[in-house]
Amino acid sequence: MSKQSQPSSSFAASPPSGVAPDARGAIADVLKQHIEEQERFCNALETLADQLPDAADPHDCLVAAMTVLPLMRRSHMFEEQELHPVLLRYASNSTDLAGTLERLRFEHMGDEVFAEDLCHALRQFATDRKSCNVESLAWMLRGFFEGLRRHLAFERDYLLPRLADGGATL
Ligand SMILES: [Fe+2]
Repeated sequence: MSKQSQPSSSFAASPPSGVAPDARGAIADVLKQHIEEQERFCNALETLADQLPDAADPHDCLVAAMTVLPLMRRSHMFEEQELHPVLLRYASNSTDLAGTLERLRFEHMGDEVFAEDLCHALRQFATDRKSCNVESLAWMLRGFFEGLRRHLAFERDYLLPRLADGGATL
């Protein structure tokens, strides 16, 4: 049995302490990458929802099912372990910001629960379509990507500017 002491995500390697201003730029770049990756995934889910039932490719559904939870967890780990502490360190009003970040963490938890349900529904469609409620799957897909898009838009509009030069004192 091998001992695995490495973190599951490269973003979880070291919690920030005394983060230099230029490090905020690097954190902003990573946040942008996570947002863009999730936005692309939302677009793929929207395409699947539009294609249901007959034009949806079961292989695409399986890929989406395998992707959704790891993608969410990877982004949430980065945000909660790397991004949020840096934002709080440089916030002029950390009490207000802490409340906002707590709300975002609750949304993360909800998204991960939703992602698990979506994963199961997508797998069912791909492997046992007769027993799949396609209408429910379409509703789940739209509910998931619409909620996630709202979450991402908030992070882009509200959190990213705080990582820009001087913006962290917003
Ligand atoms: Fe987030």
